[in-house]
Amino acid sequence: MLTPIRRVVLIGFMGSGKSTAGPLLAAQLGWRFVDADEVIETEAGMPIAEIFSREGEAAFRRRERDSILRLAGEDGLVLALGGGAIETDETRGLLLSSPETLLIHLEVDLATALQRCGGTKGTRPVLADEANLEARYQRRLPLYRMAHLSIATDPLTSEQVVEAVIAALRNQGTGIGDRGV
Ligand code: S3P
Repeated sequence: MLTPIRRVVLIGFMGSGKSTAGPLLAAQLGWRFVDADEVIETEAGMPIAEIFSREGEAAFRRRERDSILRLAGEDGLVLALGGGAIETDETRGLLLSSPETLLIHLEVDLATALQRCGGTKGTRPVLADEANLEARYQRRLPLYRMAHLSIATDPLTSEQVVEAVIAALRNQGTGIGDRGV
């Protein structure tokens, strides 16, 4: 019996390509793309860096959890999450326990991530927190790897990442290949 997949959620460290591969994947599937960080910013009425500086990281994580719990119930959706969302137990639990959600980890080496994120410290407070960056990366890696699928993205273009995701969806009996994608 196939498990129909109604949404794909992309996780991975900053610079893993969630926000670039996500819209391409959504276009291929004929689904909507949503970037959770953009939703959080719209709802808060301020950019993420400002949420961090005015309210602190814990408050940002609560906002992030609330937005994701709501979005993760929508159908026909490719949802890209911020790199730290997976550390919130409630968020991770929900994503891993929904049978209609496919959780995909776009894996990236820390060195590649840093290279790709060059010049974005102003908008990425976690990137600016250099002293804790390596520890955050190491702490998150096993959590990301709990995803249904991990794709090593370092040598891949965004288009190749999407190809790899679609191929994996077909192989996993998600019903997606059956719809002619
Ligand atoms: C964060 C990653 C960011 C954003 C916030 C915190 C993190 O998203 O959610 O700045 O903790 O790694 P991206 O992974 O899209 O950069």
